[in-house]
Amino acid sequence: MSVEKKLFGMMPTCENVYIYTLKNSNGMEVEISTYGAAVVSALVPDKTGEFQDVILGYDDLEGYLKGDKYFGAIIGRFANRIQYGKFTLNGVEYNLAQNNGQNHLHGGIKGFDKAVWDSKIRKDIDNSVELCYFSPDGEEGYPGNLYVKVTYVLTEDNALEIHYKANTDKDTIINLTNHAYFNLSGHSSGDILKQKLMINADKFTVNDKNSIPTGEIREVEGTPMDFRTLTPIGQNINSDYEQIVFGNGYDHNWVLNTNNSAQLKAAQAVDENTGIVMDVYTTTPGIQFYSANFLAGSDIGKNNTVYNSRDAFCLETQYFPNSINCSKFESPILRAGEEYNHKTIYKFSTIV
Ligand code: BGC
Repeated sequence: MSVEKKLFGMMPTCENVYIYTLKNSNGMEVEISTYGAAVVSALVPDKTGEFQDVILGYDDLEGYLKGDKYFGAIIGRFANRIQYGKFTLNGVEYNLAQNNGQNHLHGGIKGFDKAVWDSKIRKDIDNSVELCYFSPDGEEGYPGNLYVKVTYVLTEDNALEIHYKANTDKDTIINLTNHAYFNLSGHSSGDILKQKLMINADKFTVNDKNSIPTGEIREVEGTPMDFRTLTPIGQNINSDYEQIVFGNGYDHNWVLNTNNSAQLKAAQAVDENTGIVMDVYTTTPGIQFYSANFLAGSDIGKNNTVYNSRDAFCLETQYFPNSINCSKFESPILRAGEEYNHKTIYKFSTIV
């Protein structure tokens, strides 16, 4: 087990950006950058014992500074969309940036993915790094000073745990996630259409054509959204089901059956080629399965790899998109003095 810290690069403001490498005794390695608190790589053993980097990303900081796909980053203050960038809290209307058509996406123009986080190695948790970010009152239009702490832990059973904590001095909203793009055949192996996915959800939130939930919660049964058993991602991805047409593929929030418990499996992805299996556990009520529909060939990543549409999948654990404007959805409000406390685990193994 070891944790190493190296310089990753320098911001235009001359601020240093570091990269931490967490390594466990099985040889699994995860790199975390202090820019965006992003997962840059995860070397995971496959069924033959070789290591595959299952995370899409860039070779250097410049790539991350130019990139606009949120590769591996922590998203905040609010993952996914808020309709018209507007919400009302305690009788006050707040207006956020409309950075996705008329809507607000992933925390705005300069979300947490574009911040340089403070970092330290935690002595009390083996193989971990803690990243902190202070988001001042009014940043990107959100109320309240917000203190955010994200801790990544690489365990001895090949799990990458992400612990999210935050508190505020004024009521606010918060929805933190990680935007890793996974490809269990390796980041440069092409599309993920044959990789299989299970999502432990009987229902999903229906979107309008701008990917804003309409408020309807629909059963997955009989639809291409049914991933209750392991299903190849590509099986129905080009279906003419309206939700798939709206999303250009999968880009939806599933209503997890897990009751906000990280004891129960929220999702599983399996790649028969490498034999790599990834299990997801989380304390959040929802998960966004995004089939990387907007990777466009113009995204040049590690080792000059051209990333095309559907060369990865994201499983972003979250409160439901636009939940602040939909009273039927679990509330993403964090009250002054309360603690936001969530955990997501991506656990790797191989097919037995
Ligand atoms: C969203 C997509 C968006 C993507 C950006 C996902 O979380 O659901 O609609 O295009 O992030 O990379």
